[in-house]
Amino acid sequence: MVSQKEKKGNSVDVPTGLLCEYVSSPLGIDVTLSRFSWVLSHSERGQLQSAYQVLVASSKANLNAERGDQWNSGKVASKESTNVIYAGSALESGKTSYWKVRVWDKDRKVSPWSKVATFEMGLLNPDDWQGKWVEGKNYGESAFSDPVQGTTKMPYGYLLRKEFSIEKDIAQARVYVSGLGYYELRINGDKVGEVVLDPGWTDYKKRVLYSTYDVGKYLKKGKNAVGIMLGNGRHIEAYGYGPPKVILQLNIEFSDDTSESIVTDESWKVGQSPITENSIYNGEVYDARLEGLGWDTPFYDDSDWDAARIADEPGGKLVSQASFPPIKVSKIIQPREITNPEPEVYVYDFGQNFTGWVRLCVSGPRDTTIKLRYAELLNEDGTLNVIPNRGAKATDTYILKGEGEEIYEPRFTYHGFRYVEVTGFPGTPVLESIEGRVVHSVVEPIGGFICSNPLINRIHKNVLWGQLSNLMSVPTDCPQRDERMGWMGDAQLVAEEAIYNFDMAGFYTKWLKDISDSQAEDGSVPDVVPPYWSIYPADPAWGTACVVIPWYLYQYYGDERILKENYSVMKKWVDFLSSKATDYILSYSKYGDWCPPAHIKPVDTPGELTSSWYYYHDALVLSKIAHILGKSDEAKKYSQLSSKIKEAFNKKFLKDDHYATGSQTCNVLPLFLDMVSEDKQKAVLKNLIDDIVVTHGCHLNTGIVGTRYILDVLTKYGRVDIAYKLAVQTTYPGWGYMLQEGATTLWERWEYLADGGMNSHNHIMFGSIDAWFYKVLAGINIDPAGPGFGRVIIKPHIVGDLNYVSASIRTTRGILSSSWKKSDHSLALNITLPVNTQAKVSVPKGKLDNVTIKESGKAVWENSSYREGIAGITGASEDEEYVTFNVGSGSYSFERLKGKS
Ligand code: BGC
Repeated sequence: MVSQKEKKGNSVDVPTGLLCEYVSSPLGIDVTLSRFSWVLSHSERGQLQSAYQVLVASSKANLNAERGDQWNSGKVASKESTNVIYAGSALESGKTSYWKVRVWDKDRKVSPWSKVATFEMGLLNPDDWQGKWVEGKNYGESAFSDPVQGTTKMPYGYLLRKEFSIEKDIAQARVYVSGLGYYELRINGDKVGEVVLDPGWTDYKKRVLYSTYDVGKYLKKGKNAVGIMLGNGRHIEAYGYGPPKVILQLNIEFSDDTSESIVTDESWKVGQSPITENSIYNGEVYDARLEGLGWDTPFYDDSDWDAARIADEPGGKLVSQASFPPIKVSKIIQPREITNPEPEVYVYDFGQNFTGWVRLCVSGPRDTTIKLRYAELLNEDGTLNVIPNRGAKATDTYILKGEGEEIYEPRFTYHGFRYVEVTGFPGTPVLESIEGRVVHSVVEPIGGFICSNPLINRIHKNVLWGQLSNLMSVPTDCPQRDERMGWMGDAQLVAEEAIYNFDMAGFYTKWLKDISDSQAEDGSVPDVVPPYWSIYPADPAWGTACVVIPWYLYQYYGDERILKENYSVMKKWVDFLSSKATDYILSYSKYGDWCPPAHIKPVDTPGELTSSWYYYHDALVLSKIAHILGKSDEAKKYSQLSSKIKEAFNKKFLKDDHYATGSQTCNVLPLFLDMVSEDKQKAVLKNLIDDIVVTHGCHLNTGIVGTRYILDVLTKYGRVDIAYKLAVQTTYPGWGYMLQEGATTLWERWEYLADGGMNSHNHIMFGSIDAWFYKVLAGINIDPAGPGFGRVIIKPHIVGDLNYVSASIRTTRGILSSSWKKSDHSLALNITLPVNTQAKVSVPKGKLDNVTIKESGKAVWENSSYREGIAGITGASEDEEYVTFNVGSGSYSFERLKGKS
């Protein structure tokens, strides 16, 4: 009950954006202590949540009657509006729960109840699975090779089907399914849902992901059929797994409260698939002549099909992927141009490097064989340059059945490309004969950035394309060649960028489980996760992902559970590093500051320095995490360890005015973590700046590690001007140079390379610059004092030729934005802070001695002092460059003017 004193106010709006485990009304989750979050809105500024009440009910009717029969949190005095843990009765497999929330603002006014959201549990216990893993037979094999495993064989695809009858009215129907490596689920002739390349990659011996579908609308009374197409994906012998297999359970609840399950077993039939050869790297061969028309409907004669065989279980635990974004076709793009470089050879240009495949539309005689070859580059003569694909054949083949218009797109492969070559086409293909399907894990875009410099906007765009191209259920290095692995270094270096641009919480939560699965007894983790290539131990700059990513999830999403769940992994990893260190120096290094200009391996930055620095970094972060988790002994232990590493690091590498060789990375790393003693700081900084400006003519000379930190370091030590010059540099090496050479995504190397070796044109590892755009140019920063955007620091930098910058991100608390525009001596800064967020907003003084700052036309800073009386602003102070205000939620328009002298 609302007490007398609690006035129903108009100003506290209905909470919106209800999420459970980061997903809106998820289906089939298996987290029994599910976490809730919601977004507040309020017509007043400076508002905070002081309390909440969550009701969870087993039916909508109960919830509408305000009966939280599963959980009534009561009024909880708390400012938490994210990651609130369910504490009601035990959640059962397959059951739907209904929930809503209301909140009290800081003045104890209560909001109306939110709309109803739901969450439905998946199959929580192994016993809930009534079906068995089944497999088909070998209809043929194709060769597969990758640079680590060499050449092995891979089976052709096959189909499974099952008919059944439904006699009663259906109330609800759910399918739980996992098909390894990839499956496509079909019911009564239709593909179920929009998900492709499912399930997400894992080490199938440890964990197998299953998906949940609401299939009520696909079923009907009478005869029904379920069909499954299976392909190889990563579930192949070369990686230690077997041929494709599937487990499925269709649970149907009828309106008379009875239920029935259709499950995979020996009664299923197996037939040959029109998809014969299929491999992630090589592409797909689809022989339309093998299509059995209606095989996925109940009107099909499968008398010559074989019985399915019971397969060995993959070994891994079946785990729901409901809180993890699936892979889908996110966009369709049309080719821009078609050329004909050789007779009968047609080359399409999409004008954009991306990941996915093309859909082909064709009519022609039976047996016609069309080949679609994919590439990132063209040769001078306009033919395809497939060299960057290395061993990946990246070719889809379609054999026509010859029955009018035929439409084909592959299912069990994907490619990284800008160009597609079509050969064997009957007649002359036209632009409309193919269209591009952009495919990746559909993490939700939450960021936006634009500024007055078109070059920066283009870098931002390339980063977005590059990032999405490399989210394929794990963060990959590249999408085109015979790799596409979860290289941990690449992923950790750009994780902050990814978090500014996309909702990465569910994606990384899953990948952290992959990392945990991959940890060896000795505490080491591999370079590549899942470890399809078993490369242990990881280079310290790669293995650090197991520390960096949970730490970001805590800082950006306030996710403390992630820290708890991953604590032992991080601890074992740091202890492993300790076991390899001598006198607190870690000498082992495999890649270090990978891919500096003109090289693959670092030449100027000793691996020992990079490794020892990450050892320090990881010990330091671990001590902070131990502290947050209340493990004070361990916090002390790792803090002492980090002090010792720092001491040893300085003793070993610090010379008069530089570290080790004095390469940019050597100096940047210790500066980034404040390892340099105060008396030497200026000298080391000068050494770094001289190297950038004098020795390298205002260019960076860093590999992926140094590049991640160099702009942050220059900014932190007051040289944002140089950072900006590096960011917009258009001559080699730099991001602008890539753009000048026609890049539409970021490259693996600073050089334009079109020949063999390491020359992917769609690597994301240099993409860390994009986080700097948000943090430094727009000034949107987390404040360690309030993880998950409870507190933020807005501190834009007015730099270079920029006239305006505008950025926003949708945090778990709501939209946060910062935009500035400059004109002569005045500067307008507009910001929006979500309810329940507090900020320090720094308005740049623009080198003026005496500034006046107004907010919505009223002075809030004048004659070097703060003017009270503006709603939402509670104080201010000034330093050399900024006037900083304490600001609560709401939208503000600051204007800085020249003060009267
Ligand atoms: C990958 C990289 C990766 C590196 C490590 C390469 O083949 O493409 O991005 O981090 O190997 O050595």
